[in-house]
Amino acid sequence: MHNDVVEENSKLPVGTLLSGRYEITGDLGEGGFAVVYRGRDVEIEREIAIKVLNLSNFKQDLAAYENVLARFRREARTSARIQHPNAVTIYDFGETEQGSPCIVMELLHGHDLEVELATAGALGIERALKLFIPTLEALGKAHTMGIVHKDLKPSNLFIADAGTNQERMVILDFGVARINTGDDSAKLTTAGQVLGTPQYMAPEYIESQLATPALDVYQMGLIIAEAISGKTLVDEENMVTCLIKHTTGNFEVPVEVVNSPLGPVIATSLSKDHTERFDDGQVFRQALIDLNILNTVTMEAINHPPQALVSNVNPNGHTEVVDWSPPSGQNTVPPQAQVPAPTQKGSWLMRLGIGAGVLTGVAVMVGLMMMMVFMLLIFAVAC
Ligand SMILES: Nc1ncnc2c1ncn2[C@@H]1O[C@H](COP(=O)(O)OP(=O)(O)OP(=O)(O)O)[C@@H](O)[C@H]1O
Ligand SMILES: [Mg+2]
Repeated sequence: MHNDVVEENSKLPVGTLLSGRYEITGDLGEGGFAVVYRGRDVEIEREIAIKVLNLSNFKQDLAAYENVLARFRREARTSARIQHPNAVTIYDFGETEQGSPCIVMELLHGHDLEVELATAGALGIERALKLFIPTLEALGKAHTMGIVHKDLKPSNLFIADAGTNQERMVILDFGVARINTGDDSAKLTTAGQVLGTPQYMAPEYIESQLATPALDVYQMGLIIAEAISGKTLVDEENMVTCLIKHTTGNFEVPVEVVNSPLGPVIATSLSKDHTERFDDGQVFRQALIDLNILNTVTMEAINHPPQALVSNVNPNGHTEVVDWSPPSGQNTVPPQAQVPAPTQKGSWLMRLGIGAGVLTGVAVMVGLMMMMVFMLLIFAVAC
């Protein structure tokens, strides 16, 4: 680990070998905080995906940088423990020679839900249930392990083998998760920082950074409603407007969702009060199963997927921790970082100061609105 090196951000060229083992063979995509490469594990000749985090925005703040690195390590280790066909398999993690944290994971073929909705439109209820019921099982498993994802959104749900009868949804990026043990050392988001995607943030997380499984339930509710309607429920480019909509509950659930058999289940998952939602992914999953929309044969196929999918886990069942940094004493001077533009719905890391400002703004607006209503009432009575 480098204490004095912050970040390098230029893209890794094809042919780069990480840790003498993981070869970059191409690009898969780019988000707000990372570049994802296609690669090959030359030792066991397996195709892989490599996610390299870009932490250049922490460049000026070494303490924050160290904190994020520590968080990354703990989270990668924890994510690797979630072994389920509907959660991406983590093979390894470490750091590049420049000190950028990396995750080596299962290479998925297909595209994410954001791409699916943008290109093919809404999913249809039966297909949505076939994809989401097993996904909620994976999420429920994470919840029983004390892990909350915190950044569920369509681009973090990958549809592997999309369009085939083998298609399955896979949860990506447990990377911003938090181990929910109640132990202070396990709080992976530094006090004063809020991490997430404004369009999918839960009210209690905005207001008090509370991250329980119910936060993931809220985000899944938004995503399922979006998947079956083709409409993003909170779709503002302005971060503050998004946060206000979540905290006030002032957004519309599309009528086709409300009027569908899923309407009441979605409504429960989106309750403003987190204690009124389903407790976790498993309870949410059961509520969808209890609607009895999928026939027995389909449910049987969901509960017993082909063996090839189930066995898609790290053969060793554990993760090696590799430090890919150069030998100590070789201080690398970081090249000037070039921060990739965040995607429209990319993750945000906000200082609580901003969050507090937003909340104050929300409070003032709500106060003003109440005053106006009160004055109108007095006026009406006086008339
Ligand atoms: N294991 C994988 N196999 C194949 N493609 C992947 C894999 N992991 C991620 N991707 C793809 O790489 C792209 C970039 O992912 P990334 O998580 O960096 O961005 P994002 O989810 O859009 O934004 P954010 O930074 O907010 O998470 C996405 O299109 C995703 O579908
Ligand atoms: Mg992502």
